[in-house]
Amino acid sequence: MTLWLLAALLLLACGKPAALRGDRESPKRDPSREQMELELGKSLFFEPLLSHDGQTACASCHNPEHAFADSRALSVGSDGHVQVKNTPSLFNVGEFGAFTWSNPLLRSLEQQLLVPLFVDEPREMGAGVNPELILSRLASQTKTQQVFEALYGRKLEHIRDVVRPLEVFVRSLSSVDSPWDSYQGGEKGVLSEEAQQGWTVFQELGCVSCHVPPLFTNHQTNTSWGLEIFFQGIGMDETGSHNTFARGSWGLFEFTLKEEDRGKFRVPSLRNVALTAPYFHDGREVDLLRAIESHASVLEAQGLLGRALREETEAGLLEHFLGSLTGTESLHHW
Ligand code: HEC
Ligand code: HEC
Repeated sequence: MTLWLLAALLLLACGKPAALRGDRESPKRDPSREQMELELGKSLFFEPLLSHDGQTACASCHNPEHAFADSRALSVGSDGHVQVKNTPSLFNVGEFGAFTWSNPLLRSLEQQLLVPLFVDEPREMGAGVNPELILSRLASQTKTQQVFEALYGRKLEHIRDVVRPLEVFVRSLSSVDSPWDSYQGGEKGVLSEEAQQGWTVFQELGCVSCHVPPLFTNHQTNTSWGLEIFFQGIGMDETGSHNTFARGSWGLFEFTLKEEDRGKFRVPSLRNVALTAPYFHDGREVDLLRAIESHASVLEAQGLLGRALREETEAGLLEHFLGSLTGTESLHHW
């Protein structure tokens, strides 16, 4: 994606119609309206007609059965476009302060949502290729039109009109009800002995310095840390040379063009990580245990771990602990 295209998208976001502007700041809460907006967002999230080929919904890649990620290393978008990055989970994204694996320019969820709809390199939805086609498909959906008009007092006229309800839905996806949370709340019996030991190892090794509880990432909106912390150059290239990275793995460099940003990626949240294989920005590891081992050896080589990982026992314990970050009710009720 080119920087100018992104700038254009941001302008698009700012120029949204008055009917959609400012309702978030409205002092009067109306639960039935909020519910209606959430339901509209949910139906749009599962709507393949929003894509150019009419077959690719947000949910095609962000599948609820995989914690709103998917099981492919690289997902396939509209018209067969293979993505260059692995699809992340959408749980807790409303709490994030940075979006995607490496784009520092996306500072709000609303801006981020323009990317799957409009950015074409690679194409996710391709909604901007022939916007009239998509609008005409939506125009024939009476229910969508009626709900949209009831909510915003006007017709759905632009594709970017779908961003607001989609944002409401995506923001509602919260998952902080794992066994680890119950354990933290005092229910000591809910974690297996291995998971408890794994939690200790996770802290001893310093995994917590980047994957900070409660979301096990460092880019939560409520932190005062800045972008330079969110993106860590951990050099996932086995050769140790950042210059051999494939295009999808340039990381932060792709946006800043600064040499020191090659191979820097946003620290991902580890909530529900047991459900979101394959792992890392390019989906290179299919298995969580293997992901832990290879990640730990890269971190260790760079002096980023508190001490060496005792692979034969501790990798397994870490896997148990990460499994205890899988949500319970939240996975099924959204
Ligand atoms: C073709 C697969 C695909 C489709 C379709 C798709 N996404 Fe994504 N989504 C991705 C990938 C891949 C990323 C990570 C992109 C990157 O890092 O550059 C992503 C990132 C995101 C993020 C940021 C998550 C984070 O952790 O920062 C959000 C939010 C999101 N998508 C929402 C949506 C919504 C809403 C739709 C529908 C309008 C959608 N996506 C459609 C694959 C897809
Ligand atoms: C210096 C910061 C840092 C430390 C310390 C760290 N990580 Fe990470 N972690 C990252 C980054 C950045 C990524 C994404 C790397 C990529 O995609 O290339 C990541 C990715 C992961 C993933 C894959 C997540 C996914 O959704 O693909 C797992 C699992 C993980 N880390 C676990 C751990 C464990 C366990 C430890 C301790 C042994 C640890 N991390 C220590 C920064 C860190």
